[in-house]
Amino acid sequence: MKIDRKRVAVITGASSGFGRLFAQELEKNLDLEEIWLVARRGAKLDELAAKLERVKGIPIEADLSTKEGLDLISDKAEKENPFIKVLINNAGFGRSEEFSEGEEKYYSDMIDVNVKAPVILTRKLLKYMAESSMIANVASSAAFAPLPYFNVYAATKCFILNFSYALGEELKERDISVTAVCPGPAQTEFFETREKKVNHLKIEDPVKIVEKAVRDMKKRKNISIYGSQTNLLRFVSFLLPKSLLAKIAGKIKYPR
Ligand SMILES: NC(=O)c1ccc[n+]([C@@H]2O[C@H](COP(=O)([O-])OP(=O)(O)OC[C@H]3O[C@@H](n4cnc5c(N)ncnc54)[C@H](OP(=O)(O)O)[C@@H]3O)[C@@H](O)[C@H]2O)c1
Repeated sequence: MKIDRKRVAVITGASSGFGRLFAQELEKNLDLEEIWLVARRGAKLDELAAKLERVKGIPIEADLSTKEGLDLISDKAEKENPFIKVLINNAGFGRSEEFSEGEEKYYSDMIDVNVKAPVILTRKLLKYMAESSMIANVASSAAFAPLPYFNVYAATKCFILNFSYALGEELKERDISVTAVCPGPAQTEFFETREKKVNHLKIEDPVKIVEKAVRDMKKRKNISIYGSQTNLLRFVSFLLPKSLLAKIAGKIKYPR
């Protein structure tokens, strides 16, 4: 089916880490006219937009924990009526801490950015997608098990994983694919460390994760996992009861 509207990708959390890498990888791999780059740090988005050569980067400075931030993107879509070929719900945050030490607002914002924003943005933008469009939701290997000290974060990612599987099934008849990207710990601003391992956990290269994710999106896979460590974690999570997984995971000490 030929669509005569401009072909656009929307990437949230494009100011750093995976989001930035997704923009560069999509530019190489897909025939797009614009990539809408969404995050709060406008200067970083401008810098990325200037680096893109084959596709026009459009910075959108938006706080996804707010309704206004989400409306900025959907209002632009309503005005321009693009063909959204790709939506990457990637923005997210979390850190290791005892549940009782985290601020209420911190958890509330985390749920808004990690869960509410992908759901609402997908709902708002779905009408601009068509046959062959792709959605990728960045979950995490944290989605595979209950994680003490990463409790709320892991629960938000579990939501995203299940949301993605179910939505992918619903959208099959429209030929829109949904890929849940489940990275293990990787070297981005999220998990800033120069170490190659933290507590026996290998720290992965984010470039490889994103390259694999885009390959999997093009194959219209419902999940993208990079590396033997993350595949093993997933396999173990199928075998053990959640109570035991929580007990084992509770012994891992993450940097705080
Ligand atoms: N790195 C890892 O180890 C790892 C592993 C598994 C999954 N993940 C997931 O991967 C995704 C990307 O994280 P990353 O590792 O690339 O970390 P990152 O470099 O910290 O990137 C996070 C991105 O989210 C954006 N963001 C955060 N809060 C936002 C808000 N309120 N409104 C708009 N944008 C917001 C940030 O932009 P601004 O600050 O400019 O707003 C930034 O671009 C996240 O969903 C994370 O949970 C990371």
